[in-house]
Amino acid sequence: MKNLTLYMLFILAVIALYGFAYSIPMEDVSGEKIFVDNKCTMCHSVSASEITSKKKDAADLSKLSNVLTADFLTKYLKKEEAIDGEKHKVTFKGTEEDLNKMVEWLLTFKEKDAAK
Ligand code: HEC
Repeated sequence: MKNLTLYMLFILAVIALYGFAYSIPMEDVSGEKIFVDNKCTMCHSVSASEITSKKKDAADLSKLSNVLTADFLTKYLKKEEAIDGEKHKVTFKGTEEDLNKMVEWLLTFKEKDAAK
């Protein structure tokens, strides 16, 4: 009898834990994580966010040009736009939603002063 009670308690605890786990909203994936997960770090550092690429001459994305817009960057990363006549090396493989979020994060590194 005692074992049965313990067993019931155990089952109840498991159910309660499940309910708890599902009540936590899905963690919001940050633009930074999307950037790292998509291996952008193979060729880029973002020193402002303490991301250092293993590549020696990696382009630092900490100071993006002021003229870049979210719309343009989104297209550039899908190879639909070019900078100085050159398309980006890789096409973004993730979802549109991830791309937008990552671009939003990247744009926080725009040069603050207008002078280029
Ligand atoms: C194979 C190497 C490589 C990978 C991987 C790569 N890039 Fe690039 N990226 C480049 C090169 C080369 C340039 C253009 C030259 C430069 O800015 O030094 C560039 C330029 C850029 C620029 C424009 C920078 C500017 O100021 O004009 C952005 C933004 C950018 N990449 C974002 C990304 C993102 C986001 C990822 C991950 C999805 C990524 N890159 C992955 C090589 C790469």
